[in-house]
Amino acid sequence: MNTAAGDVQVGAASVRPAGVRSAGSGPPLIEIRHVSKSYTRGEQVVPVLTDINLDVGRGEFVALMGPSGSGKSTLLNLVAGIDKPDAGVIAINGEDITQLGEGDLAGWRAASVGFIFQFYNLMPVLNAFENVELPLLLTALGRAERRARVEMTLALVGLADRMDHRPNELSGGQQQRVAIARAIVSDPLLLIADEPTGDLDRTSAAEVLALLRRLNEELNKTIVMVTHDPRAAEAARHLIYLDKGQLTDTSPFAGHVA
Ligand SMILES: Nc1ncnc2c1ncn2[C@@H]1O[C@H](COP(=O)(O)OP(=O)(O)OP(=O)(O)O)[C@@H](O)[C@H]1O
Ligand SMILES: [Mg+2]
Repeated sequence: MNTAAGDVQVGAASVRPAGVRSAGSGPPLIEIRHVSKSYTRGEQVVPVLTDINLDVGRGEFVALMGPSGSGKSTLLNLVAGIDKPDAGVIAINGEDITQLGEGDLAGWRAASVGFIFQFYNLMPVLNAFENVELPLLLTALGRAERRARVEMTLALVGLADRMDHRPNELSGGQQQRVAIARAIVSDPLLLIADEPTGDLDRTSAAEVLALLRRLNEELNKTIVMVTHDPRAAEAARHLIYLDKGQLTDTSPFAGHVA
């Protein structure tokens, strides 16, 4: 593909800083081409994203930073199929999700994307086990298999001993780890995280980041994470900036990236 100024290919040799391991192979998992998005408020059209181009390879862990209001969450929501662009193509695993109707898009999202939010978004009346089981209720898995998967995933995030705790009986860091378990339990193609450490103290944030890093390094999960926190950005393999509707540059933290 031709790469104009301002385009970003995460995982491409041309922008991969020295010392950063090659993670993905084959075609990119995420291909964003000429994507634009604006919102209309009354008479006023507010452009948020303008002709965005981005490739993210399989197995990458990308941090997306930028000023408040620059459109980071908007871009994540487009990649997660929660919202649609005004123009352009968003291909995930070769499939242009902008062409899917609402029903197909909802099905695609359930099967393909794990979303981690700043405020966890757990169901307060359900315990940790039941919260993590929720996405599996949309699948054909039987009860025993669901139980096995949920227990394995909660063990993976270090909460095997908290399965019957409700969210209000867990710390913020533990709640976020339950939310991460919920995001990965159905083994999605892609993990999307919008400020996953934004509401956490430093220790809990470090635990959550260590967990995301393990998911990336050991289970080869592809992660796109928005963050304002330089420490969180350092956990990622690549850093991209969004400002004034444009992706601008990569990896000033390159020296810190593993
Ligand atoms: N549903 C909406 N209707 C109208 N304008 C919106 C809507 N959602 C977002 N915007 C506007 O789009 C711009 C980008 O918002 P977005 O939430 O993507 O920013 P952000 O980079 O995630 O900011 P923050 O770092 O504060 O979370 C903002 O100016 C916001 O006011
Ligand atoms: Mg945001």
